[in-house]
Amino acid sequence: MPRKFLAAAAALAAATAGIAVAGNAWAATTLGASAAQTGRYYGAAIAAGRLGDSTYTRILSTEFNAVTPENEMKWDATEPQQGRFTYTNGDRILAQGQAIGAKVRGHALLWHAQQPGWAQGMSGSALRNAAINHVTQVATHYRGKIYAWDVVNEAFADGGSGGRRDSNLQRTGNDWIEAAFRAARAADPNAKLCYNDYNTDGINAKSTGIYNMVRDFKSRGVPIDCVGLQSHLGTTIDSTYQQNIQRFADLGVDVQITELDVQQGGNQANIFATVTRACLAVSRCTGITVWGIRDSDSWRSDNPLLFDGNGNKKAAYTSVLNALNAGGATPDPDPEPEPEPEPGAGCTATLTPNAWTGGYTTSVRVNAGGSALTGWTVSVSLPSGGTITNAWNATVSGSTFTNVGYNGRVPAGGTTEFGFQGTGAPPTATPVCQGS
Ligand code: XIL
Repeated sequence: MPRKFLAAAAALAAATAGIAVAGNAWAATTLGASAAQTGRYYGAAIAAGRLGDSTYTRILSTEFNAVTPENEMKWDATEPQQGRFTYTNGDRILAQGQAIGAKVRGHALLWHAQQPGWAQGMSGSALRNAAINHVTQVATHYRGKIYAWDVVNEAFADGGSGGRRDSNLQRTGNDWIEAAFRAARAADPNAKLCYNDYNTDGINAKSTGIYNMVRDFKSRGVPIDCVGLQSHLGTTIDSTYQQNIQRFADLGVDVQITELDVQQGGNQANIFATVTRACLAVSRCTGITVWGIRDSDSWRSDNPLLFDGNGNKKAAYTSVLNALNAGGATPDPDPEPEPEPEPGAGCTATLTPNAWTGGYTTSVRVNAGGSALTGWTVSVSLPSGGTITNAWNATVSGSTFTNVGYNGRVPAGGTTEFGFQGTGAPPTATPVCQGS
């Protein structure tokens, strides 16, 4: 069904069935049921060691319809000695999730942290082979039972580089991530395969690096289905939070908020609501998971969750529930594939923005295709209200940039760069490049 009709159809269906419309007496009263009204899930990270706590399991089974093992499916937990796999605690999480009818997210097949000691000491092809074997073994053990795997966790560097984080895995070669995704697909063809990271809670150099990787994977047929935005948040939220979700969705992958927690003491309830609304506004944002249940269960000490240490609902809980009940765009169960970006005659262009509140600069890389260019134009579509204030290494007219004298000639397969500054949010759509 065309996406624009879905929200209307869902609203009509809800109205006809007399269910769950914001503010009325039938609005759903738990996080999971409220999220389910728009086809989404609301999950929590859970720990095997807490499953004996009856307050914990009561809240879990009442409120949540997805679970993620907080530590139990990580490499150090599942393969403590090379080739000897222990699934006891991972299986307990799986069984608990199944018992309450929840989706189970697998977390995480490969990561630079929480590696077993034996892997930490390895490098080169021995490590590569061990890592791929790990992916294959664990994904095979859980085949058919995991709705989505975080195949690779936190592989990009913080800061402005937009590049990969150094790690023993990265040093086995830049293709380690795609090798992991291919192995995971082969082992469990029905699991959605996700890339997951933090400090990606808006348009910034790190999220743009990941965006470029996902776009590259999609263009080359590397299997990837989803991107997880961890969203470990402080007292503010980036103004481009929703836009960032949307740009990933526009690449043709689902997006999930995978490890949400928000520092208490600032604007906690509002920030939780903003995250909820942002996900609901993007049809391919299919679910939200908080990283723990009560503040006392959290890995953080700043009370970042929806329930206090006694298991009571906090203000943040109510703001999330209300936002979920206010509804949003309905996920399309069978989305039409996104059209491939239209390459112009012989060139493509990619943006790498650096944004701040109210403005940005961006570099633009022009890639010649298979034949040389003697000149180029790049047309950018700006988010509404934005203007271009300055450009370098190109002339600008409206939002179309043209080469200057010294950078019009680009050899086949070569690149050149220009840049510009603007107000408002940076453009997210792929620019149209026209070569001559
Ligand atoms: C954390 C767990 O919550 C802690 O119990 C553990 O000691 C360290 O890892 N990003 C991730 C999660 O992807 O796996 C991390 O979980 C939090 C940051």
